[in-house]
Amino acid sequence: MAAFSERVFSGVQPTGNLHLGNYLGAITRFVALQERYDCVYCVVDMHAITVPQDPTELRRQTREVTAAFIASGIDPVRQIVFNQSQVGAHAELGWIFNCVARMGWLSRMTQFKEKAGKDRENASVGLFDYPCLMAADILAYKATHVPVGEDQKQHLELTRDIAGKFNNDFSASIASNGHGEAFFPLTEPVIGGPAARVMSLRDGTKKMSKSDPSDYSRINLTDDADAIAQKIRKAKTDAEPLPSEEAGLARRPEADNLVGIYAALAGAEKPAVLGEFGGAQFSTFKGALVDLAVEKLGPIGAEMNRLVADPGHIDRVLANGAARAAAIADRTVAEVKDILGMVRS
Ligand code: TYM
Repeated sequence: MAAFSERVFSGVQPTGNLHLGNYLGAITRFVALQERYDCVYCVVDMHAITVPQDPTELRRQTREVTAAFIASGIDPVRQIVFNQSQVGAHAELGWIFNCVARMGWLSRMTQFKEKAGKDRENASVGLFDYPCLMAADILAYKATHVPVGEDQKQHLELTRDIAGKFNNDFSASIASNGHGEAFFPLTEPVIGGPAARVMSLRDGTKKMSKSDPSDYSRINLTDDADAIAQKIRKAKTDAEPLPSEEAGLARRPEADNLVGIYAALAGAEKPAVLGEFGGAQFSTFKGALVDLAVEKLGPIGAEMNRLVADPGHIDRVLANGAARAAAIADRTVAEVKDILGMVRS
């Protein structure tokens, strides 16, 4: 395959509170990757509107996710941070991918099935088509690496399918336009670590999610120390002490989840945490987890609050990022149009 220069892309929806799953599964990894790669981080407001949104809240949450990126350590000067709707190339390439992807591929997406529920007839076309826009987000930048939580794995496989089909269907035109053998990279998902799937604090078999009606199921990035402590103390557990080996976490989803959260917050792996806490009661372990979570999340929440108090500054960050993003994405779309045989001036 042709060599592509390495670039990271990822996105977060501005819908509801950002929680520990978003932070550990995605945002902390965005921060780590910026040391080695050119990165593009996007607040995906056009994905958000695939389900109903209140306009005032959408605007507020777009700024809040941007603030979370910056407060967590993403550098918007060295890297590109912007909101999706400011770069028209995403929608344009998304349309082109509608014509590459197959109905059957999208029909298999488990996230659509979950989100649409029983009332599929009433779901927006955008919700069904969500993965094509996601592929456009990634491939507009020819991103080679995409850090996400485990729940996005299937969408990334679809992105690879779209890239592969485009490269294959238009191989002659890709070559004659001077792009060699492949126009789009087959993007690698970057999924893993102890918090690739953070579970609800109330039920270790359910993903921690913005849409869970119980606020006790998740820790929000803006929760204060008291709320963090209360939620961890009330988190569901079982009656046994913690095991000393990772194998002992099998069939103990709540214990596994809390150990994974501790490990991710500490920048460690689960065996190291069990090495320290094996044999301990949950009361002891939860006390240590509260201290660690407050130490790590407290400053981020405070910095987010400080940043959102100055929306003008955030909007300037987004406008600057959008201009730099458009310079890359517009070029990709122009090249795609040439490959497809569209006349352009
Ligand atoms: P979103 O906004 O639902 O979630 C943002 C990121 O957080 C991860 N995540 C989790 N990780 C671990 N445990 C959890 N409980 C948990 N909940 C959420 C998600 O996997 C994600 O990485 N479709 C995407 C947004 C998107 C995107 C993209 C991502 C749009 N275009 C292009 C990557 C590349 C989404 O809904 O994420």
